[in-house]
Amino acid sequence: HRTAAVIPAAGRGVRLGPGAPKALRTLAGTPMLIHAVRAMARSRAVSLVVVVAPADGIGEVKNLLDEHPLPERTETLVVPGGDTRQESVRAGLDALPEDITTVLIHDAARPLVPVDTVDAVVEAVRDGAPAVVPALPLADTVKEVEPAGPGTPEPVVATPERSRLRAVQTPQGFDRDTLDRAHAAIAVNGEGATDDAGMVEKLGVTVVVVPGHEEAFKVTRPLDLVLAEAVLARRRA
Ligand code: CTP
Ligand code: MG
Repeated sequence: HRTAAVIPAAGRGVRLGPGAPKALRTLAGTPMLIHAVRAMARSRAVSLVVVVAPADGIGEVKNLLDEHPLPERTETLVVPGGDTRQESVRAGLDALPEDITTVLIHDAARPLVPVDTVDAVVEAVRDGAPAVVPALPLADTVKEVEPAGPGTPEPVVATPERSRLRAVQTPQGFDRDTLDRAHAAIAVNGEGATDDAGMVEKLGVTVVVVPGHEEAFKVTRPLDLVLAEAVLARRRA
């Protein structure tokens, strides 16, 4: 029984603005992807890290992994991604060897997740939960709106009770067979989900939440780069 981490890193990072693909942008001089790979390798449970790279960036990602060695216990694989995050995750799952029974899916765009969060997710899966997500309570109140055309104010439809809402992060952890089944079902039904656990929910399988961490935030917009650099500077201090 081995655990692998699949890191989807094939996105362009449109919301971050012009530049290299997001996963290859640097934080404190090191590519975001390398931070994310190290964050997974820090967990003693993880013996394989599969990086899903931009199709035109396989060689570059392999070189980066060679330049940034990991602990001896950690193997790596690099595979090409697809047009959507879901397709990229699928490509990573397809590359897993038979003896992998627990899978973590972790965004390259969450480079600073602490190892304790990774370990908590793995432990919950090994304790029997088929799907586990780290999540935090929300600071902002959330409104559901009726989308309107550009320039038209959007009417509010509902205000979900904030105390019952959670913002989910990665790594999300799964029993491998359950996640494979979820991907197979989506291939048949067509419709997708905005996270991996969402696909498992559509199977009718219960997903459970463990505490997430503020430092597992996703680097999405330029301001997030400022925060990530500040977190790294604080860690070095
Ligand atoms: N991802 C991927 N393949 C895709 C799209 C996204 O592997 N076709 C990965 C990204 O590299 C990222 C993670 O999924 O690590 C989360 O996606 P997101 O933060 O949306 O990254 P991007 O899609 O790159 O950013 P944007 O949506 O701003 O373009
Ligand atoms: Mg995206």
